[in-house]
Amino acid sequence: MRRSRAPEPATMVIFGVTGDLSRRKLLPAIFGLWQDGLLGSAFNIVGVGRQDMTDEQFKDYALKALQESKETDAIQPGSLEKFRELLYYEFGEFGEDDVYDLVGKELDRAQKAHGGRKNALFYLSTPPSLFEPISNGLGRLGLADQSEGWRRIVIEKPFGRDLDSARELNAAIHDTWDESQVYRIDHYLGKETVQNLMAIRFGNAIFEPLWNRGFVDHVQITAAEDLGLEGRAGYYEEAGIVRDMLQNHLMQLFALTAMEPPAAFDAEAIRDEKTKVLRAVKPIPSGRVGQVAVRGQYGPGSMDGEKVPGYREEPGVKSDSRTASYVAVKLEIDNWRWQGVPFFLRTGKRLPKKVTEIAVVFKRAPLGIFPGGLERNVLAFRIQPDEGVSLKFSSKSPGQEMVLREVVMDFRYDAFGAQLESPYSRLLLDALIGDATLFPREDEVDHAWQIVAGILEAWDTRPGKGRTPDFPNYAAGTWGPEDAEKLMGPDRRWRRL
Ligand code: BG6
Repeated sequence: MRRSRAPEPATMVIFGVTGDLSRRKLLPAIFGLWQDGLLGSAFNIVGVGRQDMTDEQFKDYALKALQESKETDAIQPGSLEKFRELLYYEFGEFGEDDVYDLVGKELDRAQKAHGGRKNALFYLSTPPSLFEPISNGLGRLGLADQSEGWRRIVIEKPFGRDLDSARELNAAIHDTWDESQVYRIDHYLGKETVQNLMAIRFGNAIFEPLWNRGFVDHVQITAAEDLGLEGRAGYYEEAGIVRDMLQNHLMQLFALTAMEPPAAFDAEAIRDEKTKVLRAVKPIPSGRVGQVAVRGQYGPGSMDGEKVPGYREEPGVKSDSRTASYVAVKLEIDNWRWQGVPFFLRTGKRLPKKVTEIAVVFKRAPLGIFPGGLERNVLAFRIQPDEGVSLKFSSKSPGQEMVLREVVMDFRYDAFGAQLESPYSRLLLDALIGDATLFPREDEVDHAWQIVAGILEAWDTRPGKGRTPDFPNYAAGTWGPEDAEKLMGPDRRWRRL
């Protein structure tokens, strides 16, 4: 199956190769693909950074990263030595032409060695401030030109820091690249179980008839993390939870859950439907944010019996920081399918456990003929960990009495007996093949920013005295601020996960 997805010979150029992401995720993902024989022998990696290193030093660096990363597949004997031969390094300042000139020479060299076309995938694994200079630099030196081979650019998140800057970045990228060459990466879309959401919705006839306002009471999307800042204060103090998780990962999960069935499983059809549903979300003016969104920041608490510091005590965080580490939001969709069905999204750091889940909560049966109350059926997609799908329904408890109890029918992904691959290896291979289905398109990113724009405006630029919560407002190791529960209204509650 995977072998049918072999890309053409190509060079992958990673800008920011000495950064954290590249070391922990990208290099292991590429190595895994290569070791599985998916990248062929005519494949090279050119690392580009601002650090002065020789090829040999880079090779040592990359191999060490592979040996240290938890994401690296089991290393077969002799593999590392062979992989080493694929690696090259160039350094320079990203604002100057020299470095792009050197990258161009690397592409020439690869072509001389392997023949074929000069295909290249440029991966921007750098701080966001460098996206534009690198895109421009590649353009100036003609490296986006596809006459000698395909050229694609992969751009990491965050894509902009608000609607205006995202639009500016899109415009700047398009000065050089056609949209079909641009791959904005959101690693949540590479998760196996996120793709399974589409498989289950559109590969089965029984779910779709129920997937609407007639049967669904509400939807809950949770991405809880037990970890705190992990030494990323510099980035996180600027970003906060809305930019770090809500605008991208959660919006993608939301769009896939709420979109209409696409006419085909291809990039444009799927992205058209995702864009349509994002566009149909009822705007949240900054004045209404207090009614539909809740923010939080963790204070000191305990995780697994160990004391952990609060957000403001994390290294690099100001003692009066107002950055949110938790957000819950209620979205409504103005279309026929979902009119009146709220979607509740929540995500936060230092919650009791790591769990990502999409739960479709159905309406209660219209008439209660048994003693006791009626419960709502829930179809839950566990994205991670314990990947799987479960259906909760009521059943008679054994015995003389007619007593109903909630039971769960559970499908676990490990029943396939296969190890799930890393989202990055899936997405990298897609980009090398030229399949953009799992990469958000320009208009999707724009609409996702439009949805959170009011929230950012209310919380960042108009803190709104009096409405501002007292931070910290939840203890590390708890499920977030109390107000998040109120957001659900009197008859609904967040699932206990
Ligand atoms: C990243 C965020 O995009 O996603 C991190 O920047 C977050 O803050 C991470 O921890 C979560 O990803 P995953 O795959 O571990 O759920």
